[in-house]
Amino acid sequence: KKILFAASEGVPFIKTGGLADVVGSLPKYFDKEKYDVRVILPKYLAISDEFKNQMTYKTHFYMNLAWRSQYVGIFELCYDGITFYFIDNEFYFAGYKPYGNIYEDIEKFAFFCRAVLSALPLLDFRPDIIHCHDWQTGLLPVYIKDTFSQGQFYMGIKTIMTIHNLKFQGVWDLKTVRDITGLSAYYFTPDKLEAYDDANYLKGGLVYADYITTVSKTYADEIKMPFYGEGLDGLIRARENALVGIVNGLDYDEYNPEKDHLIYQNYNTRTFRKEKYKNKIGLQQELGLSYDPNKFMIGIVSRLTDQKGLDLVDYVIEEICSEDTQFVILGTGEDKYENLFRHFAWKYPDRVSANIYYSEERSHKIYAACDAFLMPSLFEPCGLSQLMSLRYGTVPIVRETGGLKDTVEPYNEFESVGTGFTFSNYNAHEMLAAIRYSKYIFYNKKREWNKMVERGMEKDFSWNHSAKEYEALYDRL
Ligand code: ADP
Ligand code: GLC
Repeated sequence: KKILFAASEGVPFIKTGGLADVVGSLPKYFDKEKYDVRVILPKYLAISDEFKNQMTYKTHFYMNLAWRSQYVGIFELCYDGITFYFIDNEFYFAGYKPYGNIYEDIEKFAFFCRAVLSALPLLDFRPDIIHCHDWQTGLLPVYIKDTFSQGQFYMGIKTIMTIHNLKFQGVWDLKTVRDITGLSAYYFTPDKLEAYDDANYLKGGLVYADYITTVSKTYADEIKMPFYGEGLDGLIRARENALVGIVNGLDYDEYNPEKDHLIYQNYNTRTFRKEKYKNKIGLQQELGLSYDPNKFMIGIVSRLTDQKGLDLVDYVIEEICSEDTQFVILGTGEDKYENLFRHFAWKYPDRVSANIYYSEERSHKIYAACDAFLMPSLFEPCGLSQLMSLRYGTVPIVRETGGLKDTVEPYNEFESVGTGFTFSNYNAHEMLAAIRYSKYIFYNKKREWNKMVERGMEKDFSWNHSAKEYEALYDRL
């Protein structure tokens, strides 16, 4: 079977969050004999020259989008055994970041979707299934059913729409979207692309895709309810027979404490008791925190947005930053959170470190160095950071929602089970209680703590299981 992943980001080329990790790593884990999985991405200016220089130009053509006639270049690069295609257009993809203002992005990704379909006949690769990821590719299932892609070539191509985050839907006013997409008025009714008087790309994808997936079982259930449904829960319920949750995995080659070149000291399930703390010392020195291999260190690596539960952290940050704790944050996002962490790093320079930027290298160092990793999300479709923490023997403290609930098993000191600390209500003091409890175990029951670390490290969150579930779905279609 031939599968084409279409997405707006993918490692190692371009990444803003977990979507890129999934798109870049999952294709490697399919049975290569049976599934030829390729990926198509925009060729952003922000992709490093190292990769751009390796790409080969395949062909180009011109395509109409609204009143513009647009150049579409197609480039190809085989990386780690996977074929990546790139759609080139410097009008749309010239920003320093993949995303800009929503009104720019609305046109940018209408262009991308049309260009992907127009490019297909020129690729020597006719996919049986186009696997679409998030709202940026929501128009693909629509176009594939539209006269735009009539003709023998497109007949019978199936589509899957994977929701990585229901919060982002690609919403803009109906008239503009009609003009840009070239889709007829037929599509812009409340049972199709219209939602609450606007046009909605993701909704289009969810209505027209042959199958819908999301990135954990719990999130698949949650989005049927208004609280998590982001206004689309009715549609999700209506399509629940064509919806499945498949939990994300990690690229175990990339995230491997035994081989990772970015961390100070390698270790594994046998050696972490003697070796892991060297990562903490290294980070303390690098960040200018006080030197103390025994001090409890909590980490956050995250987009700094409301989704991640940071207003809970805001309420009790003074209590979190107590004398017996160090707190290391890496992330960018909303000003209020960036400034919150900057302020506390200024107030407690020996205990708090605010790293307000994006750095792959530093993220690995934090996953390896910390004792605990905090992720109190308001909602979390899957979450990869907690999986990285588990892999690096850093105990996650999470709210029981979405993928966090499915991947972190609550610690129970009486039965000696569990891989992390969890709390259920979206409440700052419940979170604080979980943090305090974790600290208590860390300082007073070190053997118990270490057993928990070991249980977490031994869990298998590689793609092996989930790739099989996707294969089964591809077969069913
Ligand atoms: P989301 O996709 O909602 O942002 P995930 O947990 O699925 O959340 O994935 C986040 C990914 O982005 C992880 O790989 C995490 O390490 C990475 N990440 C987030 N912020 C930063 C940052 N400032 N620097 C480096 N990596 C980051
Ligand atoms: C989204 C979600 C995150 C998920 C990621 C990859 O960005 O916020 O929970 O892990 O997509 O699927």
